[in-house]
Amino acid sequence: MGQRFTLLLIFLGVQVGAGAFKICAFNIRSFGRAKAANRRVMGALVQILSRCDISAIQEVRDSRGAAIQTLLRELNRYDPSHHYSRLESKRLGRGSYKEQNIFVYRMDVVSVTDWCQFGDEDARNYKAFARGPFAARFHSPYTAILDFVLLLHHTSPREAAQELELLFGVCTELMQRWKTENVMLLGDLNAAGAYIPASAWAGIRLRNHLAFHWLIGDGEDTTVSHRTCCAYDRIIVHGEELLGAIVPRSAKPFNFTQALGLSEEEALAISDHYPVEVNLRLAPKAQREL
Ligand SMILES: *[C@@H]1O[C@H](CO)[C@@H](O)[C@H](O)[C@H]1NC(C)=O
Repeated sequence: MGQRFTLLLIFLGVQVGAGAFKICAFNIRSFGRAKAANRRVMGALVQILSRCDISAIQEVRDSRGAAIQTLLRELNRYDPSHHYSRLESKRLGRGSYKEQNIFVYRMDVVSVTDWCQFGDEDARNYKAFARGPFAARFHSPYTAILDFVLLLHHTSPREAAQELELLFGVCTELMQRWKTENVMLLGDLNAAGAYIPASAWAGIRLRNHLAFHWLIGDGEDTTVSHRTCCAYDRIIVHGEELLGAIVPRSAKPFNFTQALGLSEEEALAISDHYPVEVNLRLAPKAQREL
């Protein structure tokens, strides 16, 4: 009964307590040093992110990278049962306004085996993206599917329809490059409301191709404000194996206003978006070992 056995029991206890492997996408509106210095905001963020095995974060805005470092430190302090690490995109954007997309993940549960940044210097039409999509390959021995790809993107609102169409090509390229069918596209795609005119939907292959499953439906509300009701943030899954590993009906926005008992104003100080999340089933082995 060595230390490793004890650690295994602690680990499995946490996993089975959670019941599943949770992935979220969260646009933390303009996450930079001001937010990182706000204790109430940071307190809420660690509560939200510590529920997830992988968090796909958007709108990280801090040229020196201090804000995300603070977030990781606070997260690891808040939840010492896991070790949280991160994988950062480039600083993305055409002008002086830059954003990063960042995967925050539990490195004791899941590992990154490869990653890929689209845009900028590649010769293809990916230059048409205001911010290049960012993809990573993950491997976990604890999930019902061992290997899967997450494609994280934050569309430019005014070009959302065009970018959604381009993402079809990005998905196809990723599947060829990494020889897999199992790709989950997630993030603030601005895929709702006035950003996608009704007439544009018909031309978006990602939407009409039967192999892509939109787990966050048009009727969901991923916005915090009471005045808006839009499904901007989405989770779209390709690959029967990945689809089969998903816990049915687990995909939904996480209403942290309600969960943390906040006022609308307090919630808006955290973000104007709710995270969207989905659960993967655990591997039979991970369950049986208890
Ligand atoms: C989130 O919860 C708050 C508080 O219960 C509620 O007023 C609001 O309508 C909910 N928002 C959504 C999008 O479900």
